[in-house]
Amino acid sequence: MDNKERGLNYSITVLPGDGIGPDVTAEAVRSLEAVGRSFGHSFDLSHGLVGGIAIDQLGTPLPQETVAMCESTDAILFGAVGGPKWDDPGATVRPEDGILALRKSLGLFANLRPVRVFPAVMDSSPVKRQLLEGVDMIVVRELTGGLYFARPKRRWQTSRGRRGVDTLRYTEQEIERILRVGFELARGRRRRLTSVDKANVLETGRLWRELAVEVSRDYSDVELEHILVDNAAMQLIRNPAHFDVVVAENMFGDILTDEAAVLSGSMGMLPSASLSGLPETGRAIGLYEPIHGTAPDIAGKGIANPIGAILSAALLLRYSLGLEDEANAIERSVEGALAEGYRTGDIAGQGEDVVGTAEMGAVIAGRV
Ligand code: IPM
Ligand code: MG
Repeated sequence: MDNKERGLNYSITVLPGDGIGPDVTAEAVRSLEAVGRSFGHSFDLSHGLVGGIAIDQLGTPLPQETVAMCESTDAILFGAVGGPKWDDPGATVRPEDGILALRKSLGLFANLRPVRVFPAVMDSSPVKRQLLEGVDMIVVRELTGGLYFARPKRRWQTSRGRRGVDTLRYTEQEIERILRVGFELARGRRRRLTSVDKANVLETGRLWRELAVEVSRDYSDVELEHILVDNAAMQLIRNPAHFDVVVAENMFGDILTDEAAVLSGSMGMLPSASLSGLPETGRAIGLYEPIHGTAPDIAGKGIANPIGAILSAALLLRYSLGLEDEANAIERSVEGALAEGYRTGDIAGQGEDVVGTAEMGAVIAGRV
């Protein structure tokens, strides 16, 4: 029996986007193909347009064709969107609208951002090594509601100057379902859930806290703690190893995960999974992307760190395809490449040799 007969065939939509998105996504694909060869699966890849490149070619950041591709695929591998070319504050369409609309239209309300610190690159972080030992957390960011999406949201002119409004509104159903994702994940880990809010000031924060207490009755095996978002920002650096699962509102989660990336040594290291729910049967609709942006200053130079994208491919295998061994194989390959001393510029220490995006991608794929 050859590999093809043993393995399974999956369809994957690849949306590279802008800036370094295409550079790093190509390396994630290279690791997926290596998994295909080693484990006998085949991946049918279809590439689609999103973000600034889609605005340039089709006048919209999320073309209907792209949505249709995403709806009929096993999983989506996403790069990054945005860039100075499309940054005019007066612009009517923005690349970022592409990813936001995609998250919303696919119902990807749960954004999982695992934060690991690979021992080999601990010294790349400005945080002291002794604080980094044992850091292993997962931030669960609410992704389709809160300050990003609620209406009204607009800017307008009045006789007394310009005004702008964004709205922070949540229904109890939206908060409850993201809390449950947090509790479920905590159950499979160290059984601590840290719920982030701003209950001392915001009504939505008080609702969030009230619901966290209510939902916790179904999870008496999980220790629930509440933390104000400003304090969370501080504790993330003071005592990062304390955290197991952290659950937060959309914008709070966005901000805290850029901060958490500092623990891992670079923005280029962290992956994410955006899911329509927890994979009860080992499969869920999911979009996988590194948490970093398009890094326009280094786009196309072949020097970006592809690890966040490659680890996102591992999450894709785990959460959307139910291929745990294959996901572990990629994660071990990343760890191995780092342990062997391979470094992109962002994680290299003084005097350390530096490899480019493609070489790092090839080394990792070669170890799968
Ligand atoms: C992220 C990014 C996006 C967000 C941007 C590009 C819209 O910062 O995925 O964290 O704010 O969600
Ligand atoms: Mg962000």
